[in-house]
Amino acid sequence: MNDNVLEIRNLQVVFSTEEGELRAVDGVNLDIRRGRITAIVGESGCGKSVTSFSILRLIQSPGRIAGGSILYHPRNGESVDLASLPEDADRLYDIRGGQIGMIFQEPMTALSPVHTVGNQLCEAIRLHHNIDRDAARSRAIDMLGRVGIPSPEKRIDQYPFEMSGGMRQRVVIAMALVCHPDVLIADEPTTALDVTIQAQIMRLIKDLQSDLGTSTLIITHDLGVVGQLADEVAVMYLGRVVEQGSVRDVMKRPRHPYTIGLLKSLPSLTTAGRRLPSIEGTVPSLNAIPPGCPFHPRCPFARPGLCDVGSPPEPEETGEGQSVACLRWKDVAKEIAEGVGHR
Ligand SMILES: Nc1ncnc2c1ncn2[C@@H]1O[C@H](COP(=O)(O)OP(=O)(O)OP(=O)(O)O)[C@@H](O)[C@H]1O
Ligand code: SF4
Ligand SMILES: [Mg+2]
Repeated sequence: MNDNVLEIRNLQVVFSTEEGELRAVDGVNLDIRRGRITAIVGESGCGKSVTSFSILRLIQSPGRIAGGSILYHPRNGESVDLASLPEDADRLYDIRGGQIGMIFQEPMTALSPVHTVGNQLCEAIRLHHNIDRDAARSRAIDMLGRVGIPSPEKRIDQYPFEMSGGMRQRVVIAMALVCHPDVLIADEPTTALDVTIQAQIMRLIKDLQSDLGTSTLIITHDLGVVGQLADEVAVMYLGRVVEQGSVRDVMKRPRHPYTIGLLKSLPSLTTAGRRLPSIEGTVPSLNAIPPGCPFHPRCPFARPGLCDVGSPPEPEETGEGQSVACLRWKDVAKEIAEGVGHR
């Protein structure tokens, strides 16, 4: 079996707007390891959600996948390129919610207000599995129990509005997991919740991942969450992955100046639930992406004549476990070791 459950190669997603074609995702390469937790991290607007939506083909007009492939290697069955499946392919319906579950950034919109939690869970189960109503109900009760909902046999008959925000988010997670998907995608699953509940939900995702062996993709602003939960991390900037590797390597020895900046702005690696203070300067808009390395206007290590010309740097293996898209990563490492060169 392939070690990777998903392999994204040279993914391009564009939005056609009055200002022209905006490249929201521009050549993303990303592996999601089977049975592990992979995190995508980066400032707002860098393309985290667009990348994850592409996996389930949820990009809507005026957006479209303009190139690249998203290979899915299921636990059982044949591999498929999700990027090239027709919109109405039966396989896509089977995969959505059945083999790949998703927790959206806006969880409250994921539940129907007019149906009980039980009806929604049972409908999801019966859409993907040929089992009767009673069996679906007991599976739904079991999943509500697993996500930490007390008295699930009673709660199952409640409507979402009868529950607290934290409980509703647990229901959303139960919805995503009830069909025992191969892959769980969680896009900022806790932004709408208070800090204590955030920590509980993150713990829950981690526990369920180790109990059920689900391969998980977590999208977050928060490097604290990455440090505590994830095995692998991809750092995104302006629609590109700029650094990628194991959390241990990247957090201990970040090599891309953007990752270094993100880590420097983190108050404490053990403090979960905080938003990242921004790095000096602002993220340019997609219709004014700087030439050369897109990070150069904000990069304390940028070299005029090198970093601000030509095409964006391609990722390079460092030989230390990660890949880095920076022309000067070796010099940057040296300058940091010598304590010079950064503002
Ligand atoms: N429907 C749309 N039309 C035009 N541009 C869009 C559309 N949806 C997203 N974009 C652009 O694509 C880029 C990436 O957006 P995306 O939602 O993936 O960011 P993100 O990294 O998830 O940010 P956040 O952390 O705020 O959720 C942004 O610049 C955004 O403005
Ligand atoms: S290529 Fe240059 S501008 Fe870009 S991150 Fe590296 S040093 Fe900074
Ligand atoms: Mg997002």
